[in-house]
Amino acid sequence: MALIGKDLEKAIFRLMQDDVVAIPTETVYGLAGNALSEKAIQKIFEVKNRPLSDPLIVHLPSIDSIDLYVSELPDLARQLFKAFSPGPLTILLPKSHLISDLVTNGSPMVAIRIPNHPLTLNLLRELPFPLVAPSANPFGHLSPTLPEHVEASLGSKISYILDGGPCRIGLESTIIQLINGKEIKVLRQGGVSEESLQSMAQLTNDENLQTEVSPGSSLSHYAPAIPLKLGTVSSVLEKFKPEVVGYLGFDAFSTQLPMENQRILSAKSDINEAARNLFSSLHQLDQMPIQVIVASIFPNEGIGKAINDRLTRAAAKRS
Ligand code: TXA
Ligand code: MG
Repeated sequence: MALIGKDLEKAIFRLMQDDVVAIPTETVYGLAGNALSEKAIQKIFEVKNRPLSDPLIVHLPSIDSIDLYVSELPDLARQLFKAFSPGPLTILLPKSHLISDLVTNGSPMVAIRIPNHPLTLNLLRELPFPLVAPSANPFGHLSPTLPEHVEASLGSKISYILDGGPCRIGLESTIIQLINGKEIKVLRQGGVSEESLQSMAQLTNDENLQTEVSPGSSLSHYAPAIPLKLGTVSSVLEKFKPEVVGYLGFDAFSTQLPMENQRILSAKSDINEAARNLFSSLHQLDQMPIQVIVASIFPNEGIGKAINDRLTRAAAKRS
């Protein structure tokens, strides 16, 4: 069992000794370690059972602190950080020599983000190094949006969970790459919508473009243990009895299934509220005595695109 608390000193003490600590962010909980310590980085991969080929995001407290860890900060990147940070935006930038190949899987590009959570920002300001932090879940599983989610899946492997309450956004950061310093290529949909990025620069529409691979964009991610299907309740009822079917919907319950098998993400049809509730509702459905989860497709705008992205990946896991 891990200790769960709000004590920054306890987190700092462990991080200074190359240990790992779960930390809150506005998106999901992260499993943090000293970004400049190979020992801490190795421990993150071990605890998550994550392949070394999946690189880590470097978390910093401010725009001013970025310069040390990148060899170049294009104007567009600075403008984007000014507009969306602290917040759920991660930008790939050329790394400086301070960032080890272990962080980037040998790539010359490092992923940088300034998370927007008061406890974690204070932690980052107090520490003499940045933090690498993948989501605090075993590799390929659902991301955690509550300390209890972290405890349930990693509690036996870590000693401290910094409790920052429920995550306000509930979906991981948007990861982007800049093309020729002018255009934006979205590598992972997330907390910053494509619509708001478009207000700052053109999104590239060249599908053939050579971009950094983002393994988090491989299809096997973000999945509950119970098989998930995207589509209508009727289609699933052709194969399963209603008692063993769970439902994840946007704003309305299904009349074809028992109420206790269902979770809707926003009764008032608010897509941001839906994103906030997505992972915790999937965690709840995953605990139910059911055989399959059917999820509806969400309105494909704003953060709704990121919700549909995660559900598509979860559904692709076993099909
Ligand atoms: O919201 C978030 O981004 C959360 C919180 C904790 O900050 N973190 C997160 O980390 O989602 P993770 O490791 O679960 O997903 C980060 C993704 C990975 O799939 C990784 O492949 C990609 O970012 N990534 C990191 N560094 C990269 C790099 N140098 N080049 C390409 N992709 C990179
Ligand atoms: Mg993850």
